[in-house]
Amino acid sequence: MASSLSVLVILCLAASASAQLSPTFYSRSCPRAMATIKAAVTAAVAREPRMGASLLRLHFHDCFVQGCDASVLLNDTATFTGEQTALPNVGSIRGFTVVDNIKAQVEAVCPRTVSCADILAVAARDSVVALGGPSWRVLLGRRDSTTANLSLANSDLPAPTLDLANLTAAFARKGLSRTDLVALSGAHTIGLAQCLNFRGHIYNDTNVNPAFATLRRANCPAAAGNGDGNLAPLDTTTATVFDNAYYTNLLARSGLLHSDQQLFNGGATDGLVRTYASTPTRFNRDFGAAMITMGNISPLTGSQGQIRLACSRVN
Ligand code: HEM
Repeated sequence: MASSLSVLVILCLAASASAQLSPTFYSRSCPRAMATIKAAVTAAVAREPRMGASLLRLHFHDCFVQGCDASVLLNDTATFTGEQTALPNVGSIRGFTVVDNIKAQVEAVCPRTVSCADILAVAARDSVVALGGPSWRVLLGRRDSTTANLSLANSDLPAPTLDLANLTAAFARKGLSRTDLVALSGAHTIGLAQCLNFRGHIYNDTNVNPAFATLRRANCPAAAGNGDGNLAPLDTTTATVFDNAYYTNLLARSGLLHSDQQLFNGGATDGLVRTYASTPTRFNRDFGAAMITMGNISPLTGSQGQIRLACSRVN
């Protein structure tokens, strides 16, 4: 009995691929990888602060669709359909040129060694740090997919129209807790959103600060199709600083997306929003921990997948 139990434990450990990721994965094979990525991210964010937000979001949109395997980076070809035309991605995700540039620099120092999936994970962390946020130890050793999944991208990336129950369920399907949901949503302390994604919230929802609604309506006309692409900051107070203002905004009923304000709407997550608003150190700690958990979603490891030579296409 005891031995069959230990066999079971060993099997479980072997099945959990995240156990194979390690913070020192490249310390022998590519000791310059981390510094190369960091320098490129820091330069890109200095050029355009929003790029930090865009790179962070790419890692999220990668991990939620068949795991953190860089599937989001694959371009469509005549014979291959990737994830970039999925509704949550099209006309919205950005940063591909920066990722291609980072990959080229990393290939120059260590050919065929560092995966695009790991570059996304490290770039997300370095982006947060470049904008003044917390750091964490990124686990490494992911490999890149040879496939992508358009229909999974449409079904598994949460929509801004979701309510708290459906947001919680979408995260639970990826093994993420309610705390992870609230902490990771704090990523919306940086970056921009298009009018079409917050129009319903500022015109139709009741849990909205009236002055905030008026402010955002000024550049987001009520009629669908009018000014759909007009941009507004997700964090109305400090859009290019990675701080905890996202949560103080929620307390003031000034979340930009319906899904944001759902986290402070009289439900089970109100308490955690209050905690993160009052205690930035708790937010920073939980955000880093949740990023590590998200980065562990179904990685390809060992001999699975490949190390792509260019992130936008399979070898
Ligand atoms: C909780 C469910 C989430 C929903 C419904 C959601 C939805 C959205 C939407 C609709 C936008 C604006 C896109 C546009 O208008 O083009 C956006 C932007 C963004 N999201 Fe989320 N998101 C969620 C969670 C996350 C998570 C977990 C992260 C990262 C950890 C993240 C990071 C970002 C960032 C940084 C931006 C700004 C990107 C930029 O300016 O380029 N989001 N999100």
